[in-house]
Amino acid sequence: MRVLVTGGAGFIGSNFVLRIRQTRPDWQITVLDSLTYAANADSLAPVADEIEFVQGSIADEVLIDRLVAANDLVIHFAAESHNDNSLDNPYPFVETNVIGTFRILEAVRKHGKRLHHISTDEVYGDLELDDPGRFSETTPLNPSSPYSSTKASADLLVRAWIRSFDITATLSNCSNNYGPRQHVEKFIPRQITGVLQGVKPKLYGSGENVRDWIHVDDHNDAVVSIIEDGRPGETYLIGADGEQNNREIIALLLELMGKPADWFEHVNDRPGHDLRYAIDSSKLRAETGWLPRYSDIRSGLQATIDWYAANPTWWTSSKEAAEQVYTRLGR
Ligand code: NAD
Ligand code: TYD
Repeated sequence: MRVLVTGGAGFIGSNFVLRIRQTRPDWQITVLDSLTYAANADSLAPVADEIEFVQGSIADEVLIDRLVAANDLVIHFAAESHNDNSLDNPYPFVETNVIGTFRILEAVRKHGKRLHHISTDEVYGDLELDDPGRFSETTPLNPSSPYSSTKASADLLVRAWIRSFDITATLSNCSNNYGPRQHVEKFIPRQITGVLQGVKPKLYGSGENVRDWIHVDDHNDAVVSIIEDGRPGETYLIGADGEQNNREIIALLLELMGKPADWFEHVNDRPGHDLRYAIDSSKLRAETGWLPRYSDIRSGLQATIDWYAANPTWWTSSKEAAEQVYTRLGR
């Protein structure tokens, strides 16, 4: 099978390509990535000789048409992905997440190819802390930020192309990922790399906000399960029952990294900060048999800390730039 992976130099996409080389060595992989600040070409270095890499944008109509025509399946990870940046400058989010997805859909329609669209649970908005409910595939879309609203827009486009043009596509909406090769602007790697540099973790607001953490390999295995065993036209939520509030994550990181429990600081909250995300992934589990392998966040975080400690050259150059942005934003 010839597979086009968009956004394959980013966090989840690069882990996907590295894992697929192990688990599905017969898949012929082409990565399309525009190499924004969020990409790291070093992530794909171990498999550079085994894949084709194309630098370019998913919003480039001619390029997308050519690449989709040459492949059997498109797995669409590419996105602008950081909420804080979307609040600072929303335009790239509209161009990549909405226009870029539209370009892919038109090429998939024209050439009759299969698509798997990667999305986020953030399209559903947020839940109250004491709400017994969780997001499911029937939860109405109610996004809060420019990031989540552009992802919801993309999801709606995919659903409309399935319904109106009968394209063969599946969608997945996953909760917050952690693991190796995540950009240092994101919560967990920001704190791990900060502590490694002697800087206290930064907690937005009260730190009561809850995220439903999943290891990136579990997310990517679920994507393969949907591609191989999911029903065309369907949406699947991916989650590993990993609800933790931000305060709890910082406490665990400090313990694992040998720092006192109070060695963190509060910084300004994010405007419109979503309170809680929680995923009910029973449809995915029932239909594909997928189960998360990393059920213990402590060991998953320890492995992630070990990875950042062992790979400073991967992250040091982007660390300074990311912290300059946070200084400007007051966070
Ligand atoms: P990331 O920011 O680490 O990587 C995104 C990649 O897309 C980068 O390599 C970037 O260069 C590339 N890209 C951006 N604009 C592009 C364009 N116009 N053309 C081609 N490439 C472009 O993001 P991530 O965390 O790996 O997220 C990947 C996908 O998973 C996104 O669709 C995101 O919405 C979704 N998702 C992420 C999480 C999470 O916790 N990180 C959770 C659920 C869903
Ligand atoms: P983030 O990794 O940006 O993911 P998302 O906004 O998609 O959930 O943030 C995860 C949570 O951590 C979110 O509630 C915001 C919070 N946060 C902090 O408390 N401190 C930080 O330095 C960052 C980057 C995030």
